[in-house]
Amino acid sequence: MKFAEDFLIGASTAAHQVEGNNIHSDYWAQEQMPHSSFTEPSGDACDHYNRYEEDIKLMAEAGLNAYRFSVEWARIEPEEGVYDAEETEHYRKVIACCRKYGIEPIVTLHHFTSPVWLIRKGGWEAESTIEDFRRYASYIAKELGSELNYICTINEANMGLQLAAIAKRFRLMAEQAQKASKAEGTVQVGMNFEKMMENMKYAAQENAQVFGTPQPQIFVSSRTPEGDLLVMRAHRAAVEAVKAECPHIKTGLTLSMHDLQALPGGEAFEEAAWDEEFRHYLPYIQDDDFLGVQNYTRTQYGPQGQLPAPEGAELTQMNYEYYPEGLEHVIRRVHEDFKGDLIVTENGIATSDDTRRVAFIETALAGVQKCIADGIPVKGYCHWSLMDNFEWQKGYEMTFGLIAVNRETQERTPKPSLAYLGSFR
Ligand code: BGC
Repeated sequence: MKFAEDFLIGASTAAHQVEGNNIHSDYWAQEQMPHSSFTEPSGDACDHYNRYEEDIKLMAEAGLNAYRFSVEWARIEPEEGVYDAEETEHYRKVIACCRKYGIEPIVTLHHFTSPVWLIRKGGWEAESTIEDFRRYASYIAKELGSELNYICTINEANMGLQLAAIAKRFRLMAEQAQKASKAEGTVQVGMNFEKMMENMKYAAQENAQVFGTPQPQIFVSSRTPEGDLLVMRAHRAAVEAVKAECPHIKTGLTLSMHDLQALPGGEAFEEAAWDEEFRHYLPYIQDDDFLGVQNYTRTQYGPQGQLPAPEGAELTQMNYEYYPEGLEHVIRRVHEDFKGDLIVTENGIATSDDTRRVAFIETALAGVQKCIADGIPVKGYCHWSLMDNFEWQKGYEMTFGLIAVNRETQERTPKPSLAYLGSFR
């Protein structure tokens, strides 16, 4: 069944994962360290920085009408207070290219990567980051805002707390000498915890050299409760800055949300997890124009707490459960408390078998349509990801793309799932 004419159907990417050579960013610096936790460095990534037109054209030819991508803070402001006009121009061209092909650009201001200078100042635990982020948001709105209708301020603003929880679980499991890699399979982003633990002592020295501190607070570090709220305050500051320049732009942030399910006896664990993952942010997002919903899998709780994927369940390359039904459940649950518009800003599956991606999209979109039929204001769906790309610490082995990318030649080959997604329009 097709969606209404004005429904946004598209795909998502993030600058660092696809552009290549993001040399002023904290991730780039960490990838180069001798005891890096990354399986490989991002390098040229998908060279999307140079090939964006080809990629946007492929989306349009398949029938998509939205592209969610991020502008890279480390490119725009490589040194504190110094804005790079050429890089700004680059993104102006990407936005114009979207318009040329009839694609609505949905721009994310911050998708995990930050400029090295920001991290040297204390990163995502430092008060000063709120003002720095406000200034950057204001600059983008002033320079590019007249061409935009949607801005996501911060991607997965709740990631730091999720990582804190998982790091704690991982430490406990490692201490008990249990199979440590199991804990990692529950976080919705590529992380190599085992490698991280092993490298920790060397990494401290290397971090000190680059960031001036053994424990840099990058965005994807375990957050303290204060740091968690600091991210929310940075979001509010950015929203105000964007609205002051461009009141017409719809603004919101995105959250990583698991479909949390309680088995008998697991209700209290599940409720506490939902509060942590979503509900305690409500005061900071309640007045936003939209909320970006990002879901990949489910998590179940029993009387002892979080459970591993059920015995025999199909797992994705990321080691978490294949569970496309999760999206509908999350949308319904979010709507209980958040009454504004919802845009699915990420949902997808890492697999080498594209027939599983097609099946995943079929189930996920059927769920979205049921939500819309029940009156929930879901305004768009952006699949993660437009193309196979750099899955953070896990590198290029994870294939989330609707388009395959040959790592040697950078040649693009659309997978059947791309046209399948486009057929919903
Ligand atoms: C992130 C993406 C990531 C994807 C798949 C989300 O957590 O926003 O950057 O690649 O999930 O793990």
